[in-house]
Amino acid sequence: MPRYAQSSINEVSRRTSLSDVVSGYVKLKRNGTNYVGLCPFHKEKTGSFHVDEDKQLFYCFGCGAGGNVYDFIMRAENLDFVDALQFLAQRAGVTLEEERGTSKEKREEDSDRRRRILEMNRLAARHFYENLSTSGAEHARAYMERRGLSKRTAIKFGVGFAADGWDDLLNFLKESGYTQEEIVTAGLAVKNEKGRIYDKFRNRLMFPIIDVRGNVIAFGGRALQEGDPAKYMNSPETPVFHKGRNLFALNLAKSVGAKNGLILVEGYMDVIALYQAGIENVVAGLGTALTEEQARLLKRYAAQVYVCYDSDEAGQKAAQKAIGLLTEAGNTVKVISYQGAKDPDEYIQKKGVESFKALLSDSKESLEYQLLRLRQRYDIYDVSQKISFLTEAAKILAEIDSEMTREVYIKRLAAETDISTESIKTEISKLIYYKQKKKTRKEIYAENRTERLDTGFTAAVQQQSIATYKAERLLLNLLFFHRRVYEVMAERVESEWFTGAIHKSLLSKIMAYRAGEEEADASAFLVTLTDEQEKQTAASVLYESFVGEAVQAAKEAAEKLETAFLKKRAGELVREGKVKEANEILQRTKGRRG
Ligand code: CTP
Ligand code: MN
Repeated sequence: MPRYAQSSINEVSRRTSLSDVVSGYVKLKRNGTNYVGLCPFHKEKTGSFHVDEDKQLFYCFGCGAGGNVYDFIMRAENLDFVDALQFLAQRAGVTLEEERGTSKEKREEDSDRRRRILEMNRLAARHFYENLSTSGAEHARAYMERRGLSKRTAIKFGVGFAADGWDDLLNFLKESGYTQEEIVTAGLAVKNEKGRIYDKFRNRLMFPIIDVRGNVIAFGGRALQEGDPAKYMNSPETPVFHKGRNLFALNLAKSVGAKNGLILVEGYMDVIALYQAGIENVVAGLGTALTEEQARLLKRYAAQVYVCYDSDEAGQKAAQKAIGLLTEAGNTVKVISYQGAKDPDEYIQKKGVESFKALLSDSKESLEYQLLRLRQRYDIYDVSQKISFLTEAAKILAEIDSEMTREVYIKRLAAETDISTESIKTEISKLIYYKQKKKTRKEIYAENRTERLDTGFTAAVQQQSIATYKAERLLLNLLFFHRRVYEVMAERVESEWFTGAIHKSLLSKIMAYRAGEEEADASAFLVTLTDEQEKQTAASVLYESFVGEAVQAAKEAAEKLETAFLKKRAGELVREGKVKEANEILQRTKGRRG
């Protein structure tokens, strides 16, 4: 991964308009000099996602996401910074120059590491594949045959075999020029306490995990004997692999997702079996419960997500969670349910692909599915169970936005339980009312999210009023944007007045930035921040625009902070029994704000 010159980054920033870029993802409405739209990073009905074209910053008052154009692309496209930069450079027609200078070598070393791991993974995948035809792999071939995996499918997915030894891959990779340390970092070998290094994957059927750009980023290895304590073994997190951010087979399915939607299953073998049967729009998680990032990834590639998890209780519970996450991320979700098989793989082997296709076209809206599942848990001929059922059903319906949809289900429930539609409606209205009341609280909470992140909200509330807190933010904002404020206040502002570690750190970074820059460029400043929380806080602090007499406002804010600080100090002195000193300090705060 190359390191690009700052001048190149600046050039991309200069030629890129944030609102332009965002418009590719979000329908923006003009709002004064700013733009507003529905946040692409969380589900909402009223727009709290704001774009400030002057500052080149975005900020969502709903979920707290914020940053510059690079941060936006990193989130929206699920890329790291360098990839986001390349993406935007291409869009802006800028050729990126690599950085020159003394630290170049070290940086190249870092970026080389990633590239070498990817190369190593590719070689490993090829090696595993070649192993499949060796004499030591007879049982692996037999296993594949038993599971109905054709040669062609195996090639398509790059299925291979990790030999039953301790150093087959290790030796191969060493001969190919990789060091033991590199092989361990790639997650292909492990080191035990005694320092011995050996192959991580032994005697397993190997499934390469490939990202949308075609890189082999990790492996999943299936045990060949039933009863192996670890049925699957997956690569650990490595510099090129983050489980929660990728999906198995998305590389194969991504091109058809927009048209046909994507079927989300639990297992690698489910994906492979469906694919072999001609259903190619299938993906799976990577051995962990579905994550928010994966839900967003699906949103990007799929017009519609069909959840098709295992039929056992664990599978259905996991499906419920996945449905929630997927819906939250803005996906349209349908559920495929089936009986007589434990998972989609077994279903297809037993009943054939046509039967599965019928399930697919029979798939239910997630809402209908949830109500059905609920219904199965109650005996509605028992009065108290009937009431419990209706109460639970009302909760589900209260979550629905569409009046019409709700109406349809209310009628059905009424017929099914012989309870009037009016009573059911009343119950739902009550829930919606409470939900809305709660929601306002939740929204306020969300707005304060960044504040809570950097100070630890409870500590902040105990030690200082929200007003002081806001004064800190205002002062940071003014110091950043107003040259004059910086000149007048730089010498006076004390870091100890600031309560949170992040505010303190931002203060010193803003000062350093201001000392070197005549013009304040919020977006460029954000590029220099590496800590994610700090960046979010900076985005929210800098997003605000102060209108009025800046120097005066800065002085007042500073005074407020100093006073709060002195009062706190006096309190500490009193607790230490130093009443006289405490009184002296308090004298200084007389007649002041704060
Ligand atoms: N998994 C895992 N470790 C395990 C079991 C499962 O990482 N010990 C992950 C794998 O990604 C697996 C998925 O969870 O693909 C679903 O598990 P399961 O349904 O048991 O996997 P299948 O692919 O259906 O495996 P098989 O049919 O070969 O038993
Ligand atoms: Mn299975």
